[in-house]
Amino acid sequence: MNSDQSIWASLPVPAFIIDVEDRITDVNSAGEGFLNASQKSVLGHPVWDQIAVDAPLEEAFERARKQGTPLFVNDVDVGSGNRAPLQCALQIAPLIGHQGSMIMIITPRELAGRMTRGNTVKSAAQSAIGMAEMLAHEIKNPLAGITGAAQLLSMNISTQDMELTDLIVAESRRIVKLLEQVEQFGNLSQPDFKPVNIHDVLDRARRSALLGFGAHMRIIEDYDPSLPLAYGDPDQFLQVVLNLLKNASEAADPKGGTIRLRTYYEHSFRLRRSDGSGHMLPLQIEIIDDGPGLPEKIRGDIFDPFVSGKENGTGLGLALVSKIISDHDGWISAESVPGRTVFRISLRRAPKEASEIIAQESAE
Ligand SMILES: Nc1ncnc2c1ncn2[C@@H]1O[C@H](COP(=O)(O)OP(=O)(O)OP(=O)(O)O)[C@@H](O)[C@H]1O
Ligand SMILES: [Mg+2]
Repeated sequence: MNSDQSIWASLPVPAFIIDVEDRITDVNSAGEGFLNASQKSVLGHPVWDQIAVDAPLEEAFERARKQGTPLFVNDVDVGSGNRAPLQCALQIAPLIGHQGSMIMIITPRELAGRMTRGNTVKSAAQSAIGMAEMLAHEIKNPLAGITGAAQLLSMNISTQDMELTDLIVAESRRIVKLLEQVEQFGNLSQPDFKPVNIHDVLDRARRSALLGFGAHMRIIEDYDPSLPLAYGDPDQFLQVVLNLLKNASEAADPKGGTIRLRTYYEHSFRLRRSDGSGHMLPLQIEIIDDGPGLPEKIRGDIFDPFVSGKENGTGLGLALVSKIISDHDGWISAESVPGRTVFRISLRRAPKEASEIIAQESAE
């Protein structure tokens, strides 16, 4: 696939190419999802029959085409024959190198809203995740169709051809798995804050790692027994530690490696925000491995979604970790040289009253 085609196919918003006679000559997959129709059924059809825009657009469109200038239309209702109208923004521009053809990109408001909400550090990840979530949702249905069709086909074909239908089914399953991981972000609820014994979380993660993906690893505990309780959602913390252990296990030599789980208290660690506010993050958790270290190329971007150094990695593990930690007002950083990679998490301690309630409950 050349890069034009892959850009076109990966555009996470509906996009259409319209020829000089206002017919659709190309539509990307998000566009098919938007119209809820296949490419085949819309190509060659007059665009304004397929896409109903609730605004007197045609004249401005014609002018943009004649003058070779772009046209932006905000907040219009855009409908298609198969679905209720959605409030959208339209971006229209002449297609360079194709006299008279225009490209039209439709951004549904819901998506636009999701992209601008959220705050500072998280917003880049969130916009990518928002788009990805929409894509995930849009791709799953046609994919189920593809799998079903391949399975039907496989009923009356030679064993040799069956290899191909099996391939379609297997690859489709792989995509569904990826999409489900993407959707996990959307489902991640606000943390259920309570006092948490971090050592319990680490133990659970350690045991589960040793039974599964980390069976080839040695996991050493190096705990500060006097560490106070942290404040956060124990299930989400478990997910964080599991993701970090999984990465360390995957980076290690298949013959094995060592991971050290270290906790300690550092009373002066404080997170200061750009608005001047700040709070203490005295609980430190380090997950240290002796593997080859973070790949040079992606070192600065490992917490961004879809950044992966692995052939089959989705690059969502650390993005999820960083989202969870930032939802907890915590901090995560990574330091890596070959032979020593450290992921360090800094967390708040539980407020005093909350810890006392827990202490009483466990005494009863
Ligand atoms: N402990 C580690 N040692 C070496 N490299 C690491 C380590 N942890 C993460 N990385 C690198 O950072 C990349 C991003 O990690 P992340 O968990 O986000 O995605 P992934 O593991 O590739 O995919 P996923 O977690 O979604 O299956 C990894 O692909 C790997 O290259
Ligand atoms: Mg991972």
